[in-house]
Amino acid sequence: MKKIGVFTSGGDAPGMNACIRAVVRSAAFHEVEVMGIKRGYQGMIDDEFINLQKSDVANIIQNGGTFLKTARSKEFMTPEGRQKAYQNIQKHGIEGLVCIGGNGTYTGAGIFYEEFGIPSIGAPGTIDNDLYGTDYTIGFDTAVNTALDAIDKIRDTADAHNRIFFIEVMGRDSGFIALNAGIAGGSEGILLPEVMNDYEALKSHFADDKRRTKEFSIVIVAEGETEGKTYQLAERFKADFPECDLRVTVLGHVQRGGRPTANDRILASLLGNAAVEQLLAGKTNLCVGVINHALALVSFQEAINSKKTIDASLWQLSKVLSY
Ligand code: F6P
Repeated sequence: MKKIGVFTSGGDAPGMNACIRAVVRSAAFHEVEVMGIKRGYQGMIDDEFINLQKSDVANIIQNGGTFLKTARSKEFMTPEGRQKAYQNIQKHGIEGLVCIGGNGTYTGAGIFYEEFGIPSIGAPGTIDNDLYGTDYTIGFDTAVNTALDAIDKIRDTADAHNRIFFIEVMGRDSGFIALNAGIAGGSEGILLPEVMNDYEALKSHFADDKRRTKEFSIVIVAEGETEGKTYQLAERFKADFPECDLRVTVLGHVQRGGRPTANDRILASLLGNAAVEQLLAGKTNLCVGVINHALALVSFQEAINSKKTIDASLWQLSKVLSY
């Protein structure tokens, strides 16, 4: 392989720049040329390709977002869109792709290989950490720390006013950010889509006479909680405990930005390098990840079809510590 492409797709995540940098530097180490494709699959269709030299990725490891930009391309979901993308890939002489993103990104790369035989290796980039085949995704650690910073600040005002705060954190369909930020933030309750009837459990907890008396409380709600949206759950809580002084904060997209943590930079660097090595070793349709501190490889198919479960021991821990 003499030339490869790299792109980011789906929601951005802190550490994506560090991953692009690792891909470019690793390819250069192996004397392989790299082209960056802007705006993910959409840029592939619209012919937004740029040459990337080692120096082009200098001074980006510390930046959030993705300098290649990202998109969720509807056009790539059509055969016509993919045909245009393939013509551009051919025109630029690209023989393999490193795609940084989530399940949608892997799905696109898998179909592209089936139709046109362009090999791809995926690197997991999403703050949600909801990808199978890796303990952590690029961006998750930063997002948890950003949420934690906000939770700590909210604690100050919650304490000052003796209030209960419901704080919504991101996680479209998953509670990984909520669980980790909830434990690290000393929250009294955590509501996750993975746990059923957790509102009732929260209610019983607050009604329990044996519960430690507290003047203020923090409850973390995952965005994807299936028992209701955060404001609805807060209203329900207010109806159940009319005496409480309750406020809601939705943290939102602040969790997607910011300087990546050291953990995210290292993970991104490791996985960017691993993706290039797999591609150069002739592999395709695999995503790189880290499981128990070691490099892990799973097929796109397995990653897409399998659901990553939350750590039951962490969930149990959150219950014990908040009692
Ligand atoms: O997948 C990452 C994520 O930030 C989710 O947590 C969230 O639900 C979603 O993306 C938001 O997407 P958008 O930025 O397109 O609104």
